[in-house]
Amino acid sequence: MSQTFVMVKPDGVRRGVVGEVIRRLEAKGLQLKAMKLIRITPELAARHYEEHRDKPFYGELISFITSGPSIPMVWEGREAIQVARTLMGATDPIKAQPGTIRGDLALAITENIVHGSDSVESAEREIAIYFSAEEIT
Ligand code: RTP
Ligand code: MG
Repeated sequence: MSQTFVMVKPDGVRRGVVGEVIRRLEAKGLQLKAMKLIRITPELAARHYEEHRDKPFYGELISFITSGPSIPMVWEGREAIQVARTLMGATDPIKAQPGTIRGDLALAITENIVHGSDSVESAEREIAIYFSAEEIT
């Protein structure tokens, strides 16, 4: 069993697809361990996306991710990190396969509905940014 961090980004909340994202992860067999709705502050966004600090899209990414409430979550299951990334689809929704969350629900690379951890290390780091141990069931 492993855990991953998945977050519905502000566009997903605005467009009313939070339930759709949760439904797909549940239907696959992953188990929801923690969830909340928060407006990410610029400080929190900088911590989350520090690996992208020097990328050309960093400014756009930070202003987007702080533009409205997000739904951070912890999910658990066999190979949860890879399974969640597969369900999400490619970063660019234009390239994401039909049947994936981004392939079915998104069109723009910044507004791509979901975030998912890409390694065990990033899952541990991201879970700890958004949740205390007591908040995870
Ligand atoms: P995420 O971290 O959100 O799960 O997405 P990811 O691993 O598939 O992609 P990553 O390379 O970590 O990029 C983080 C987010 O930055 C935005 N992005 N914009 N304009 C661009 O070229 C560009 N590239 C990435 C996306 O919103 C991506 O999810
Ligand atoms: Mg990433």
